[in-house]
Amino acid sequence: MNILFLFGPNLGALGRRDPAVYGAATLDQIVTEIEAHATRLGHSVRCHQSDHEGVLVEQLLAAAADGVDAVVLNAGALTHSSYVLRDAIEACGLPVVEVHMSNVAAREAFRHTSVLAGVCRGSIVGFGVGSYHLALEAMPWITN
Ligand code: DQA
Repeated sequence: MNILFLFGPNLGALGRRDPAVYGAATLDQIVTEIEAHATRLGHSVRCHQSDHEGVLVEQLLAAAADGVDAVVLNAGALTHSSYVLRDAIEACGLPVVEVHMSNVAAREAFRHTSVLAGVCRGSIVGFGVGSYHLALEAMPWITN
C-alpha cells in the first residue's frame, strides 16, 4: 500500500517541544523509523509536515489522484478546532487514521474533543512514537 503520513502544526519541533510529553526523538528520526517499519510490512510511505492548515488540505485533496491508498494524520492542535480539515478528510475519499502521540484524554480539557474523529476511520492515541507504528499495523483492517 501507498500510505501518506501527514504531520500538522508544531510537530516539526518534536525533540525540543515538551519532551516529557512527546519524547526526545525529532520528526526526522521518527520518519526514519516509520519508513523502516513500513518497509518491513511491505508498504511504501511518504511523510509530510506543515504548519499550515491550507497545505494539509491540499495534500489531503491531492492524495487519491497521487495513488495514495490511506492517510495517517497527526493534525496537532488542528484536531481540536479545524472544521476546514474535517471537510478535507471527508472530501479526500480515502481512509484516514487519526493519530496522537500523547494521551489527549488525560490532558487539558480542550484536547479532549476531536472535531476530526467522526470522519476518520479510526484513532490511535497515547503510545508516543508507537502510535505511528500501530497505525501502520492497522492498515489491513482500515482499508476493507
Ligand atoms: C498531539 C496532541 C495535540 O493536542 C497537540 O496540539 C499536538 C500533538 C499529539 O500527538 O499528542 O500538537 O496531536
